[in-house]
Amino acid sequence: MSPFQLTRTLADDASDAALRADVLTGLTRHPKVLPPKWFYDARGSELFEEITRLPEYYPTRAEREILAARARDVAAVTGARTLVELGSGSSEKTRFLLDALLPELDGYVPVDVSESALEGAGEALLAERPGLRVHALLADFTHGLELPPTTGPRLVAFLGGTIGNLLPDERREFLRAVREMLVPGDALLLGTDLVKDEATLVAAYDDAAGVTAEFNKNVLAVIDRELGADARPEDFDHVALWDPRHEWIEMRLRARHALVVKIPELDLVVPFEAGEELRTEVSAKFRQEGVRAELAEAGFTLSRWWTDEKERFALSLATVPALG
Ligand code: SAH
Ligand code: AVI
Repeated sequence: MSPFQLTRTLADDASDAALRADVLTGLTRHPKVLPPKWFYDARGSELFEEITRLPEYYPTRAEREILAARARDVAAVTGARTLVELGSGSSEKTRFLLDALLPELDGYVPVDVSESALEGAGEALLAERPGLRVHALLADFTHGLELPPTTGPRLVAFLGGTIGNLLPDERREFLRAVREMLVPGDALLLGTDLVKDEATLVAAYDDAAGVTAEFNKNVLAVIDRELGADARPEDFDHVALWDPRHEWIEMRLRARHALVVKIPELDLVVPFEAGEELRTEVSAKFRQEGVRAELAEAGFTLSRWWTDEKERFALSLATVPALG
């Protein structure tokens, strides 16, 4: 078998149909919303990588610090033969896990909606580690995710705090579905950003160089390109605010003046009032007890909780208890 395989589990027109449905539903309701997965075309994936290098965006560095310190513990506790990674992106931090799990590792299964990210990561990993078998899945991890046959025990990694981009109900359903994919002896490694002071949080989502603003506005470029729309990034302001009730950051796009966006492919005209906001992302921040409870509700046991030295970010190792 070739060391790199890519399987598209989305039907050819699935992403098109899903984008149409999300845009139609999200832009015709009040307040307007779009799901964050549409940020990640090739440009959006590049912009996210740029965000991870910004001085204000601490989560990637904090999680890398934890992985560097704990990857060997993860390998010792799980003995994983297959590493599945959801929302794998560039797989940059994953290298700590791969190094710790090799040589027992049978295969790495990165799962992402960004084909460019999967291909870039696969190519780079194979150049560095010729023995590694990579089976990439182009798939939406929130809808009917199915794994190819893999050797157990399996470790599912969900890093970066991406779970925080799901709404509470979506998180519940997602964790349940992951649990159902696994059997006793398998494990989940979950990265969560932690609640902290508002200034640090807001700065991480509203950086001085304006990269996050460009990332946020990239969703407009995706709609323009894919649906023939005429949204103009210069008509919107990037907004990042902390919602203390939900303990999440919200990213929004605020119309600078009254305008309409025409979306010919949907036969839709979307009016915006001056100052009207479109929510493009939530990024929930967590506390240990909340993570433990959500994992338990889905049928996992929180076995290890590791943070970086400044306690900004946490990695949870959750196991699947034996039945009975
Ligand atoms: N894990 C990496 C990347 C995080 S960025 C890190 O920690 O740095 C979030 C990643 O999840 C992106 O690569 C994006 O394309 C992917 N993603 C977002 N929503 C997704 C979905 N619903 N299904 C699959 N992948 C998704
Ligand atoms: C991928 N995800 C965890 C990022 C986050 O921090 O919520 C996406 C992001 N949005 C703005 N900056 C980064």
